[in-house]
Amino acid sequence: MSFDLAGERILLGVSGGIAAYKAAELVRRLRDAGAQVQVVMTAAAGQFVGAATFQALSGRTVRDSLWDAAAEGAMGHIELARWATRVVIAPASADVLARLAHGQADDLLSTLCLATTAPLAVAPAMNHRMWLHPATQANMALLQARGAQVLGPDAGAQACGEFGPGRMAEPDAIVAALAASRAHSGDGPLTGRRVLVSAGPTYEDLDPVRYLGNRSSGKMGFAIAAAAAEMGAQVTLVAGPVGLPTPAGVRRIDVRSAHDMHAAVLGALPQDIYIGAAAVADFTPAQVAEHKIKKPTTSDDSGLTLELVRTPDILAAVAAHAQRPPLVVGFAAETTGLADSARDKLARKKVDAIAANRVGVAGSGFDSDDNALDVYWRGGDGAAEVVALGPARKSVLARDLLRLLIERVANSKAATA
Ligand code: PMT
Repeated sequence: MSFDLAGERILLGVSGGIAAYKAAELVRRLRDAGAQVQVVMTAAAGQFVGAATFQALSGRTVRDSLWDAAAEGAMGHIELARWATRVVIAPASADVLARLAHGQADDLLSTLCLATTAPLAVAPAMNHRMWLHPATQANMALLQARGAQVLGPDAGAQACGEFGPGRMAEPDAIVAALAASRAHSGDGPLTGRRVLVSAGPTYEDLDPVRYLGNRSSGKMGFAIAAAAAEMGAQVTLVAGPVGLPTPAGVRRIDVRSAHDMHAAVLGALPQDIYIGAAAVADFTPAQVAEHKIKKPTTSDDSGLTLELVRTPDILAAVAAHAQRPPLVVGFAAETTGLADSARDKLARKKVDAIAANRVGVAGSGFDSDDNALDVYWRGGDGAAEVVALGPARKSVLARDLLRLLIERVANSKAATA
């Protein structure tokens, strides 16, 4: 059976395990499907299969070290992270899964996984007791929660002579799953586009037990990320503290504070579209107390004055960035004066559109499943045009918003062509 991965640039991570021999077959199958393949081996993988095998099959020099001056000269590890349209780790050992789950960057493969915005797929392979160990299962849950696609493992006779789940999925099954996830998202209007979405609140710590936060649930931003992935985009979702599952096929980066979100969003550039749906705190405590702030022990009932300082404006920073996405969209959330606020943000933050929603009322804005958006768009004469969407479910609005953005971009391109 033939699969279509034409145009994909797959960074294939091979980690240490007897299943590494199957990765050689996987390289062939991926290339048969039309993908370019760059193999990155961990040190342990080299104990099982030689680099020359992968080099011959992939037609590319195998990379295995962060410190290889010659290889870095040709394509540095950050460029390699940007080159990839997908990262696939097969076999993924228990050790690699643990290091990825905990964000380590102590070799080339783990560093690339932190630096890339490409979706990650892992094909675990290990002894069945190691696979079923709560530590490995917790690491897998973390990776899945961040959007990693998990391929296998299969159950059966293992190289160690035992029987159970832990065999690496067969190369054909891996290629089929990658092609299927592409087919699922591959024929949409955003195919080939990178979309970065921020969602949820930020928490600004006051002391080890208290924070300043807001009522954002993340539902609006997660719905946009899910809709963009369904439309074929390669989606990165920077999420504040929320309790929502990661939409299928979306790469998720969890953050806590406005400063963390600022770093994660700017670190995910370049992108084609940025949509700032997060409710980012405008102020953060000037200092975070090292210990819990205590109440006065005397009868003194005077209040507590907090000194707050401004947080970075992430939306304005993206719009002013050297790697500014061609389309930058912000939100405006107000209880009153929504239209004025939206027009002001459109001009002041130098963004292409502002989706304005009313908050503080039932059935829209924060934590609701429904919403209504007035989308303000910068017109050619500097005046803002407005399109009303909804009221509707946030999932419906997310698709409508993306369709509107796609349509407006297409129209403005046609007008300037
Ligand atoms: O998460 P839900 O419960 O589903 O609720 C959805 C929502 C109401 C949070 C969402 O629809 C929304 O309106 N998000 C923006 C909320 C907000 O912070 O609005 P704002 O008017 O304060 O900010 C304007 C824009 O600047 C927003 O795009 C915001 O992400 C951005 N911003 C604000 C401050 C800051 N320091 N950095 C920013 O990037």
